[in-house]
Amino acid sequence: MAVHVPKGWELPERAVTPEHIFLNRRQIVRGLAAGSIMAAVPGLALAARASDDPSAGLYPVVRNERFPAGEGRELTSERKATRYNNFYEFGTSKKIWKAAQALKIRPWEVRIDGEVETPRTIAIDELLSQMPLEERVYRHRCVEAWSMVVPWTGFAFSEFVRFANPTANARYVAMETFLDPDTAKGQRQDWYPWPYVEGLTMAEANHELAFLVTGLYGKPLPRQNGSPLRLAVPWKYGFKSIKSIVRFTFTAERPLSFWEEMNAREYGFWANVNPDVPHPRWSQATEKDIGTGERIPTQIFNGYGEWVASLYAGNTDSTLYR
Ligand code: MTE
Repeated sequence: MAVHVPKGWELPERAVTPEHIFLNRRQIVRGLAAGSIMAAVPGLALAARASDDPSAGLYPVVRNERFPAGEGRELTSERKATRYNNFYEFGTSKKIWKAAQALKIRPWEVRIDGEVETPRTIAIDELLSQMPLEERVYRHRCVEAWSMVVPWTGFAFSEFVRFANPTANARYVAMETFLDPDTAKGQRQDWYPWPYVEGLTMAEANHELAFLVTGLYGKPLPRQNGSPLRLAVPWKYGFKSIKSIVRFTFTAERPLSFWEEMNAREYGFWANVNPDVPHPRWSQATEKDIGTGERIPTQIFNGYGEWVASLYAGNTDSTLYR
């Protein structure tokens, strides 16, 4: 009898949420032809019907197994990950998921400008058709000391950089969220520096872990999670992972991000996770796993140090970890 010995990077069975079915597109098409998969997986049919997102047919896609949930971590349930959110455009509570349904996700255009060979504007579905989609399980650690483990679908930021074709002058990429106070009531609060802006160095954007997200749990990204396009940089605090992006500007100057502009003492440009550097108002030594409710130790670079520590070798900036 063949005994299956799980490799370090394989997820334990319990980590696979029943809501998530990972089949590749060919399997789905084959299954549809045979009339079998929809019948075998009623949730899939329901999800496809319920979604008003024209990209729904692209999901689910094959999971890239290079990115494990992490020792002792389990996937957070889809329900929790889509009902406990930060999206200040729709309010400051965690319960903005209903309010966020007001977001109009089509038409949706993405502007690419600044230090690029040819500035351009591309419709999201056109961009999606040109990018190689994959699924990755990442830990997601908010600066507020809570965390989740979620299966994002999207494409490597490096693929997008190649597509955008920046000039040699580009040292950073700034990203911007939509601005529509009629739809997003939070944007009527004019003490915030809307629109939400974030940025990465080119080395960070080209790092293998930097991921542009279009889906979650094998479906198009829900509005409350930043549809139709957001960032996931799992070694940084969650506020770096900007939602509902409409613009990428390649630049020689370091961008001033939303939270840095609000309060640079508390939220910096780098925002690398570090349990030993407390936030001025609370400890970062532990975090609450929103899925299990357990409090667990926080890891340097959110446990991705082996991947990313070299990005910061020799960087003595005192704000590297906030
Ligand atoms: N992006 C925008 N545009 N607006 C926001 O308020 N919140 C950030 C980040 N991206 C935020 C944003 C913060 S603080 C976190 S922790 C994550 O989104 C939350 O992502 P989630 O709701 O998918 O868990």
